[in-house]
Amino acid sequence: MKAVVFEAYGDSSVLKFTDAPMPPIKDDQVLVKVYAATVNPIDWRIRSGGLAKFVECDFPVIPGREVAGVIEQVGADVSNFKVGDPVFGFLQQLEMKWGSYAEFVPADAYKLAHKPAELSYEQATALPVAIHTAQQALFTHGGLEAGQTVLIHAAAGVVGSMAVQLAKQAGATVIATASPGNHDFVLGLGADRVIDYHQQDFGEQLKSEYPDGVAVILAPFAGKSLQGSEPLVTSSTKIILLSPVANPEDMKIGPVESQVMICQADGAALESLSDQFASGELKTEIARVFNLEQAAEAQDLSATERVAGKIVIKVN
Ligand SMILES: NC(=O)c1ccc[n+]([C@@H]2O[C@H](COP(=O)([O-])OP(=O)(O)OC[C@H]3O[C@@H](n4cnc5c(N)ncnc54)[C@H](OP(=O)(O)O)[C@@H]3O)[C@@H](O)[C@H]2O)c1
Repeated sequence: MKAVVFEAYGDSSVLKFTDAPMPPIKDDQVLVKVYAATVNPIDWRIRSGGLAKFVECDFPVIPGREVAGVIEQVGADVSNFKVGDPVFGFLQQLEMKWGSYAEFVPADAYKLAHKPAELSYEQATALPVAIHTAQQALFTHGGLEAGQTVLIHAAAGVVGSMAVQLAKQAGATVIATASPGNHDFVLGLGADRVIDYHQQDFGEQLKSEYPDGVAVILAPFAGKSLQGSEPLVTSSTKIILLSPVANPEDMKIGPVESQVMICQADGAALESLSDQFASGELKTEIARVFNLEQAAEAQDLSATERVAGKIVIKVN
């Protein structure tokens, strides 16, 4: 099969479009014929070697952790999918070997869901990581409830924009942060208030409007924007971070130690939101679609961390 492969850590030039053997599947797995994959920031962090302590690489490695495609083969223990089913999901490999930047990828069956017919493969592959991360951060870790206020940073990003949609659906008041050029987009998602996190004193400005602070802060990125939130933090605020912090002092905001969350694959959660995906009630913007041969360019674009929307790789 055709695939993008890297044989050693390095910059995007280590990614080669080449021939690779067909991946094997285990009894609880399916083989998916890939129609569309995505680029997640973790893809280029793994490729660079920056996450070697957390995600092992069994070289040669095919990157890619999200997929939408059609079931090609079913393992002996799999009963909920059959050959020919259109599916999508987050692969969440603990060791990287067989990823979705390829014509075929093995997937644990419990991580997949049936793709709603209304969605294209590009739209479907863009959803799983955003949904799992936003859902688990807001509700599983943050305990967000109707009537509470949540501060969502990087709200124009893939995870942030999904979090705004889910928090509004849950009946929360949403304060979002984004660069000024993205304010209309974020308000269009339903945010009650959007603010430029580049302003040093944005937390102070908001404090007079929200004197009781916020129940949950979702912060995809640590650093300056997160520290500016301090005036809105009370001793009961839950702060959920999505990226490891270089400086341990950045973990503490006012009286609260933030927690770093890793999203978990969950096909059943995707299946349960099927109607909302089909109707477009929950959606992820697609920023760019690349061909498989352009994977290096696609990862370099993601590494700018300035792209609002998902980067998709079209395969078959
Ligand atoms: N732990 C997990 O399980 C998990 C899961 C998914 C993602 N993540 C991580 O979460 C982060 C966001 O992922 P994503 O896919 O949503 O990213 P994304 O779509 O690439 O987010 C890009 C947006 O984030 C904003 N941004 C960039 N740097 C920022 C900063 N320092 N402070 C505040 N906002 C900033 C920018 O918004 P403006 O243009 O409006 O400034 C940019 O448009 C990544 O680091 C990713 O690795 C972790």
